[in-house]
Amino acid sequence: MKSATQVETIQPSPPSLSSSLSLGLNKMRPYETVDHLVSCNAVVVFSMSDCCMSTVVKHLLFSLGVSPTVVELNEQADGPDIRSVLYQLARSHQPIPAVFIGGKFLGGVQTLMASHINGTLVPLLKEAGALWL
Ligand SMILES: *[C@@H]1O[C@H](CO)[C@@H](O)[C@H](O)[C@H]1NC(C)=O
Repeated sequence: MKSATQVETIQPSPPSLSSSLSLGLNKMRPYETVDHLVSCNAVVVFSMSDCCMSTVVKHLLFSLGVSPTVVELNEQADGPDIRSVLYQLARSHQPIPAVFIGGKFLGGVQTLMASHINGTLVPLLKEAGALWL
């Protein structure tokens, strides 16, 4: 027989994202913002408009003929939340600027420069559809 005072509630199953383990559920929204931005745009730069390293990254991409999607975190309401997501991704390295190519986290200014110098950056940009020539 069923109890009249049944208190069992049906819980929606939690999203099966492994990232929720490290980021915490309160960080799901900024994580999803980042995920959405980087999967919908070939090249995304998370930048601080007052940070010279961000300027270096943007100028290198512009000089290669790439028009990156630039997110100026210091001009966004959810900038601090997005920064903490990027901090997790960068694994304690300097999280800003952060460059994503083809939906994947490339790194910051050092990785971008190193990839440019060793010749892997341009093929990566072509593969992502950010460069045609
Ligand atoms: C080029 O540099 C990037 C960034 O340091 C590195 O991840 C990649 O493995 C390098 N590739 C080659 C072929 O040296």
